[in-house]
Amino acid sequence: MTDRELLNLAIKARERSYSPYSGFAVGAALLTKSGKVYLGCNVENASYTPTICAERTAFFKAVSEGEKDFVAIAIVGGKVGEPLRPEVPPCGVCRQVMAEFCPPNFRVILGDESYEAVYSLGDVMPLSFTGENLK
Ligand code: THU
Repeated sequence: MTDRELLNLAIKARERSYSPYSGFAVGAALLTKSGKVYLGCNVENASYTPTICAERTAFFKAVSEGEKDFVAIAIVGGKVGEPLRPEVPPCGVCRQVMAEFCPPNFRVILGDESYEAVYSLGDVMPLSFTGENLK
């Protein structure tokens, strides 16, 4: 699976975004070590706080299906009806969820229909609090 293929799947996933309150639609495609891809979109709520981001939708779908080995996530987003933003970085809560399940070399791929940028989880979530800190 290339980064471009994963970004294109995230673009597809974004079509299912339920974002009537922010008008900001996000899609994610999470690649497992075994080569499976879990898609996610943001799902908002009139009460606002129950809203879940695209990235966590993808992670929780995967973990609830028994997957815990991840290699990369592609994330795309932008205002509904506007061109995709070239880079939509994952929010802090989603980074914390990534840190729970993924090693520092987990790849975070941002982009749009033509642009691609790759970061590592270690880059975007240094000094993370994990289960190790509870031992
Ligand atoms: N959002 C995501 O889905 N992922 C992010 O990493 C950033 C924010 C969503 C949450 C909310 O539905 C909308 O974008 C505006 O914050």
